[in-house]
Amino acid sequence: MISEPATIIASAAYLPPNRVKNSHFESYLDTSDSWIYERTGIKERRWADMGVKASDMGVFAATEVLKKANMEPKDLDLILVATMTPDQPLPSTAALIQSKLAGCKAPAMDISAACSGYLYGLSVAKAFIEAGMYKNILLVGCEKMSQVLDPNDRSTIILFGDGAGASVITSGGKGLRIDNIILGLDGNLANSLYIPQGGSMKMFGQEVFKTAIQRGVEVIEKLLEKEKLLIENIRYVIFHQANMRIIQNIQKRFQIPEEKIPTTIEYTANTSAASIPILLESISHEQNQRYMSVAFGAGFTYAGAIFTSL
Ligand code: ACO
Repeated sequence: MISEPATIIASAAYLPPNRVKNSHFESYLDTSDSWIYERTGIKERRWADMGVKASDMGVFAATEVLKKANMEPKDLDLILVATMTPDQPLPSTAALIQSKLAGCKAPAMDISAACSGYLYGLSVAKAFIEAGMYKNILLVGCEKMSQVLDPNDRSTIILFGDGAGASVITSGGKGLRIDNIILGLDGNLANSLYIPQGGSMKMFGQEVFKTAIQRGVEVIEKLLEKEKLLIENIRYVIFHQANMRIIQNIQKRFQIPEEKIPTTIEYTANTSAASIPILLESISHEQNQRYMSVAFGAGFTYAGAIFTSL
């Protein structure tokens, strides 16, 4: 098979209908709408109903993106699913999603890299496609964050939302050509954000906050250097949506105009691996532009990508 550059030809998003506003937490925690909004930029998030799993949301986004890409499940060569909230330990959420996509026979696997999961997944898709092994890959980021949070921990319960995003990546085609991806991990910070077996999320917020900014800045500098670009050459910087103040800190360092930084955090909160594909779906496509994406998350993982819009 002759391989062409891996290209995201379509992205789609799914958010569950149930909106949870900041005022919900005021009713039982020592917190306020203004504290949450000022410290995070979040006004509301979506939480899925009890019986809805990450795979269900993933299937909604996958079905939508296949329609946009003019493809059927049988056309897929591989399914990758980035999630930190799998439906169950075994089998993978990817296997469950494959089973719900009628007629799909593609191999499938999960990627566990927390909020960097979508970009980690994109690097795997790019490698498979450009090695000539597969042509059509579905990458899903789906998270039911509400199932791993302690409702009484005011520093985490306010931060996260449920949702899914999906992309189809093909060999060549029109869309976002993936020019470069870098991945990183600080394993020594594994305990800054974690979920113990059978427990709920624990987070050292300030450490995560500081590291996210530090690694985010480094990722941008490295990508610009590798691609011989200036920040002015980038049309959109697509940040993982964790905290508006993290984004603003990085924005100030590089003096990136606000209109180049699309966000969804105000109404989605942090949807972990789903956040970047949800954001991608919301951006209008402009031809012949360079886009950048930056993510960071538990692990401590970080990643960045540069695209050309075709
Ligand atoms: N309402 C009111 N007060 C709160 C709340 C809340 N919801 N949460 C924490 N506080 C309190 C703290 O208890 C503390 O009180 P104290 O001084 O009496 O001890 C005070 O506010 C200040 O706490 P800080 O931790 O210093 O607050 P900070 O300004 O750092 O904001 C936050 C906390 C929002 C959690 C911030 O640290 C943050 O966003 N960190 C990054 C989190 C993140 O992005 N995580 C996701 C990473 S991606 C992934 O992989 C999942």
